[in-house]
Amino acid sequence: MPYVKELESIILNRKSIRNYDNTKIITDSKINDILNYVRHTPSAYGLEPWKILVISNPKIKKELQPIINNQEQVSSCSHLFILLSYSGETFNTSNDWFMKTVMKNRNLTKVQYETYKLTFNNFFDVEQKVQISHWAQCQTFILLQNLLLLLTAHEIDNVVLGGFNKKLLLQFLETNKLIEPHKYHVAVLVCAGYGHSSKTKIIKREPDEISAIIK
Ligand SMILES: Cc1cc2nc3c(=O)[nH]c(=O)nc-3n(C[C@H](O)[C@H](O)[C@H](O)COP(=O)(O)O)c2cc1C
Repeated sequence: MPYVKELESIILNRKSIRNYDNTKIITDSKINDILNYVRHTPSAYGLEPWKILVISNPKIKKELQPIINNQEQVSSCSHLFILLSYSGETFNTSNDWFMKTVMKNRNLTKVQYETYKLTFNNFFDVEQKVQISHWAQCQTFILLQNLLLLLTAHEIDNVVLGGFNKKLLLQFLETNKLIEPHKYHVAVLVCAGYGHSSKTKIIKREPDEISAIIK
């Protein structure tokens, strides 16, 4: 069990940090390392229904802050991770991009793809837009957890942000051509950087309160 202690210690050490020193910047090599490992997150059908925008540009972070409930950590953190999930409006079997993604992912010919499509049981049917978007967002939260663990393992402080205006944030990213239009929803955000020292740890509920072992 060579990794258990390390993993337990990473989980125990992670806590939300909201108070960043904006003069301390995460190095590009650490960011690249993290992105290189976070991509190994599992996903249904291996479709990886996400994209990660990593924003370090101070002007863009400042402009984003009002859209993200004016949370101060958006502009003071070193890097803002925006986790985008595929939108059902685009990611469905009637879409060319969907077909190309599945074919590339699975190394399928067009004929094989037609057969494989049936295994999706109509889940990716064009009528199921909301369900597909929800499916993609849920999976992006697995990516989120891996990202938090990686950041913490690198001793980079972090906090998840779910408080933002979804519509305005997406509009901002599309209008500024930071992402292709209509392809994504914003799933969740993470601020990362180096915080000031006061770190209070939230008390967690005990195992018998949050779980039941059935034998
Ligand atoms: C989905 C999600 C959304 C969150 N949104 C915010 C947020 O908008 N702003 C914030 O300061 N913290 C946010 N948090 C952080 C939680 O407040 C924090 O995880 C919780 O209080 C437990 O503290 P801990 O992370 O230190 O264990 C969010 C966490 C999650 C998982």
